[in-house]
Amino acid sequence: MDKIINILKTNTDYVSGEYIGTELNITRSAVWKNIRKLKENGYDIISVTNKGYKLDLENSFNKDMILENLPTKIMGKNTVFFNETDSTNTQLKLIATKDGINVKEGTLVIANTMTMGRGRLGRTWTANKCEGIWLSLLLKPNIPPENASVITLLAGIAVAQGIENSTGIHTNIKWPNDVLVRGKKICGILTEMDCEMERVNFIILGIGINVKTTEFDNELEKIATSIALEKGATTNRTKILHSILLEFERLYRIFIEKNNGFLPFVSQYEKLCVNIGNKINVLGNETFEAVGLGITPDGGLIVKRSDNQQEQIIVSGEVSIRSIS
Ligand code: BTN
Repeated sequence: MDKIINILKTNTDYVSGEYIGTELNITRSAVWKNIRKLKENGYDIISVTNKGYKLDLENSFNKDMILENLPTKIMGKNTVFFNETDSTNTQLKLIATKDGINVKEGTLVIANTMTMGRGRLGRTWTANKCEGIWLSLLLKPNIPPENASVITLLAGIAVAQGIENSTGIHTNIKWPNDVLVRGKKICGILTEMDCEMERVNFIILGIGINVKTTEFDNELEKIATSIALEKGATTNRTKILHSILLEFERLYRIFIEKNNGFLPFVSQYEKLCVNIGNKINVLGNETFEAVGLGITPDGGLIVKRSDNQQEQIIVSGEVSIRSIS
């Protein structure tokens, strides 16, 4: 199959099945079968009758492409790729549970399509075919479970910065876990943890980024966007992924080495966070209106309540934040 990809890579126009067959000394039907396998492996190959096959590298996304020139040392070095799966978080959890302590930190599970993508608070996450980056990363930080929510905040910075570096699109963060462009959601983060009372066994960091989607369903249209809709310099998912993984690895290393919670990242997060200085609705056990003031050294959101002017710290969890200005 590598040989077919090489032929397609060296030809920018259509290549006939007959030509490929002759070059590789295989039948046209063997060519067709291999092309079908390549498509299943995430290569976007356009087939046109009487013309042949053409590779669209910009739209292709697969394990080989991810591992080629991967700029990280840990994140994604061990990659499991699915053309289609239920949920990358679910699959990574299966791997981590099966491999136990031997599972490698930085293991990446990534898919072209998810049939049962999961969002926060039990919601579903739409992950249409080849339209986004749907990934899950395995982390094994030596931290107590109560500090684990910082990982979501680090991921927010990494996605915001990674998208900006690779596409030039300016992004913001809605505390604690949405990345926005012009107020619309471009990325959601679902962090799940396996832990004991005092230690984390592993964390699954799930990140979903809308890349190529140009049409959203009715209710999503007003609140969601994608790289394609925002006209970034590239919608090449491999480039965007590399940029995000590199940024996340850098931040994660500082987090582990400094052992100082979220403190080293507070000022960068505050600059990116749309909730600071703006009115929000805090939706949880109690619902109230407030203004975001800042971020605490352990990643909480400091707000001033509109009803009694008292300051309060919101810790991430079952709380939802709605921007109202
Ligand atoms: C949210 O905003 O509700 C969080 C969405 C998280 C979606 C990602 S996509 C990759 C990973 N696998 C999943 O099933 N969900 C997360």
